[in-house]
Amino acid sequence: MSQHSINNDWFTEAFDTLYPIVYSHRSIDAAAPEVHFAAQVLGIRDGSRLLDLCCGTGRHIHHLSQFRASLYGLDYSAELLRKAQELVGDRASLVRGDMRTIPFVDSFDVIVNFFTSFGYFLDMDENLAVLHGIKSALKPGGRLFMDHINMQSVRTTLQPHSQREVGHYAIDEKRWIDDNTQRVNKRTRITGPHGDMQEISESVRLFRPDEISGYMAEAGLHVEAIYGDYEGNALTVEAPRMILVATA
Ligand SMILES: C[S@@+](CC[C@H](N)C(=O)[O-])C[C@H]1O[C@@H](n2cnc3c(N)ncnc32)[C@H](O)[C@@H]1O
Repeated sequence: MSQHSINNDWFTEAFDTLYPIVYSHRSIDAAAPEVHFAAQVLGIRDGSRLLDLCCGTGRHIHHLSQFRASLYGLDYSAELLRKAQELVGDRASLVRGDMRTIPFVDSFDVIVNFFTSFGYFLDMDENLAVLHGIKSALKPGGRLFMDHINMQSVRTTLQPHSQREVGHYAIDEKRWIDDNTQRVNKRTRITGPHGDMQEISESVRLFRPDEISGYMAEAGLHVEAIYGDYEGNALTVEAPRMILVATA
């Protein structure tokens, strides 16, 4: 496969049985301080209605359930939702759906979107549709917490090639930035214990903070704070993340 052949629907294959192996470091425990920070910033109140958009295996919902909020999770991956159901049981309502067509209107006080779960679509209008869907799923005055990649630190720290092992799996990862599309792309080759090999692709749009704030404003979401990490530090060139808090 050439470096340049990323399909618009790459996400339909990337988030299946191999995802929890490739991203095993994104664990339930690692989600605890992330939820702690989000709750501090958002001030989640008893009775709040909260949606984890792109909830994956439910690792953030697991920690969010310490608050007396009404919890919902939406994700496209049947496999990751199955794991989420196992983890959170009846502590949340889980819905299979596509973030471009969020099936809720005027429903939530808070929407959270953790760990680079935005900017997936090659056509920017489809990413904008996600923001419009978030705006209409939030109650007026509701808030969005979005944790995205810091474009500047990705540009300076990107490792073009790395190899590692997770259990009996050998993982070979190639990463590159496409300046034409402003996307960071990744191709991962996973070789299993019996020599069986699978490849998955990932592709995420990079945004300058002013650019994503502009797109959010177009959708009626007003960015009120931007952080560079889960400790509340400012967004700098070296900051690991770009965390946005916006109000509908
Ligand atoms: C990087 S993972 C993050 C998952 C979770 N937020 C976490 O931190 O563990 C991105 C998630 O987005 C979901 N996803 C990808 N494309 C989607 C789509 N079109 N609609 C809804 N969910 C999608 C994937 O299934 C996956 O669970």
